[in-house]
Amino acid sequence: MSKRIEAYELVHLVGGGSRRYQVLLQPGSDFSFTHGKIAHDDVIGLEEGDTVTSSLGERLIVLRPTMSEYIAKMKKGSQIVYPKDIAAILMLADIFPGARVLEAGTGSGALTIALLRAVGDTGVVISYERRPEFQAIAEQNIERFFRDVKCAGGSGKLILKTGDVYESVEEREVDRVILDLPEPWRALRSVEQALRPGGIMLCYNPTVLQIYKLTKRIERKYGHCLRVTGVYEVGMREWEIKGRSMRPQHRAIVHTGFIFVARKIYNGDER
Ligand SMILES: C[S@@+](CC[C@H](N)C(=O)[O-])C[C@H]1O[C@@H](n2cnc3c(N)ncnc32)[C@H](O)[C@@H]1O
Repeated sequence: MSKRIEAYELVHLVGGGSRRYQVLLQPGSDFSFTHGKIAHDDVIGLEEGDTVTSSLGERLIVLRPTMSEYIAKMKKGSQIVYPKDIAAILMLADIFPGARVLEAGTGSGALTIALLRAVGDTGVVISYERRPEFQAIAEQNIERFFRDVKCAGGSGKLILKTGDVYESVEEREVDRVILDLPEPWRALRSVEQALRPGGIMLCYNPTVLQIYKLTKRIERKYGHCLRVTGVYEVGMREWEIKGRSMRPQHRAIVHTGFIFVARKIYNGDER
């Protein structure tokens, strides 16, 4: 059953084309934009999919944002992982309800949000970030998503840590390590210590040189404990549907990042 929009919810007001406005509903407030004004009170009490009309006659559809829509509009400190890649990361890292996941760096918290939802209320995400100013932005983004987006769903326990994973991590026996860092090969000692046997390490990097260096470092120094299982790139092409014109969009984000996956193993000697 659909639930009516309530005060203090975060909603999107969607117009024609790609126009989309994010509004946190506060009783008594107005939302002003180029096509007039909308009283928040006119939105509170509506159902998702209803239309609201501005003072200048512009009609906007009221919807709760999906996770990827929220991520696209949230405040950014660092560059975020694109939603198409987040989807693949959840699958390739096999994130499951109840998992203990170690992540670095937290950045703006986009991937953290997706991990928290995927581990469910019995899981935990421990996320390291070395820049406190980014951590503060991420914390606000994460808190806002799970508190203000009423269709966000439940989340696992979140532990945010300020620290450098190239130096060390305190965690042991985690199920998954997810790294979105410029030099992931420098974190391999931390990964070896933190990840349980059979656990998955996944690294996300924009350039193939980073993937090359990571592969070489594993070959030379970490072959005894990490087995590379695959390197992937995700393509997603959006199409434009306008009357009789149906074709791929002219503009597209072609390359975002590579996804590198390895599993923790022991060879007989090491055990
Ligand atoms: C590309 S951003 C991560 C974006 C994040 N995955 C998201 O989706 O919002 C990389 C982050 O790693 C952090 N970082 C870089 N080296 C680090 C290290 N050694 N330990 C912890 N964090 C680090 C940076 O400060 C930056 O915030």
